[in-house]
Amino acid sequence: MNPLEFTPEDRVLLVGATGFVGGRLLPELLRKGVRTRILVRNPDRVPTEISSSPMVEVSEGDVLENRGLTEALEGIHTAYYLVHSMGGKSLFRNLEYANRDVKAARNFVKAAERVGLRRIIYLGALGEAGKELSEHLKSRAEVATILTSASAKTTVLRAAIIIGAGGASFEMLRYLVERLPIMGCPRWIETRIQPIAIQDVLAYLSGCLEHPETAGKTLDIGGPEILTYREMMQQYAAARNLAPRIIFRVPFLTPLLSAYWVDLVTPIPSGVAHPLIEGLKNEVVCRNHEIEVYIPITKTPFRDAVRIAFSEEKEGPGVTGF
Ligand SMILES: NC(=O)c1ccc[n+]([C@@H]2O[C@H](COP(=O)([O-])OP(=O)(O)OC[C@H]3O[C@@H](n4cnc5c(N)ncnc54)[C@H](OP(=O)(O)O)[C@@H]3O)[C@@H](O)[C@H]2O)c1
Repeated sequence: MNPLEFTPEDRVLLVGATGFVGGRLLPELLRKGVRTRILVRNPDRVPTEISSSPMVEVSEGDVLENRGLTEALEGIHTAYYLVHSMGGKSLFRNLEYANRDVKAARNFVKAAERVGLRRIIYLGALGEAGKELSEHLKSRAEVATILTSASAKTTVLRAAIIIGAGGASFEMLRYLVERLPIMGCPRWIETRIQPIAIQDVLAYLSGCLEHPETAGKTLDIGGPEILTYREMMQQYAAARNLAPRIIFRVPFLTPLLSAYWVDLVTPIPSGVAHPLIEGLKNEVVCRNHEIEVYIPITKTPFRDAVRIAFSEEKEGPGVTGF
């Protein structure tokens, strides 16, 4: 048998289970009958209905502090790596997120080598290498390079903004369009982007486990439309039955100024907004479509993805899977 093939007796490790994507991937894996261990920094954040499931093991650890990794990876077939340390509130305290993410990925690879892990599945970001690439997108690519250097076969899925309640980029889009009928934006409003619904991301992430042919590959994933940021904001407004927004370009608006402005008019702190805004200058569009060969799905249109994000929401903006 192909050692990369996942059987019902095998177990996955999910790192990042308390995050926006990981918090939704966990129930999806359980629904598919996948035995799962989660590595979390704070087990108290795991609801009892999850920790008491016979399908779930909770392991305490920290990838940055290099704590509990070997124990968490012991006996694991495939590890999902959905870690991101960008969540700092202050802009200046958050500048080190890229170094933290690199260090965490290196710790993870070392532990994976120790236990002989077979597969890693990582969700990174679209955006092409070059000196123009933003620090945030560069950092996501650097993590991909570290993970693919492991002896384990690493699948890298690359995505642009994910449409779903609680995602940092989606929340920024939501607050800006909902709160501002008239908006002054920097040049990036004409940059092209290929947003993707969280449901489609989950289908691809869980599908990779079922398809060992995806092991060792870098695959771009995106929704059915390529839009400019301007078009995306107008489509968001249409999906929410809001009047079309008046959007005009302000040439002197820098990412730093924009981040403070977003901090002022939305609940997104400048420390999170700045790396995201800096990345808006980079086109984030799928360059390869190989994923469709392995995991053919009906892609969710952008407007439907926005409507689903709202219909799913029970407790207001910013609620993640946990
Ligand atoms: N959101 C999007 O629109 C989007 C788009 C494209 C790609 N992606 C990619 O998807 C992946 C997941 O993103 P996300 O939006 O779900 O991020 P997120 O909501 O910020 O979640 C990050 C997760 O990482 C965990 N984590 C951070 N530092 C850790 C550490 N030292 N040890 C253990 N766990 C740690 C967090 O745990 P705590 O709860 O303990 O903080 C949390 O569970 C990232 O690689 C991101 O680049 C996201």
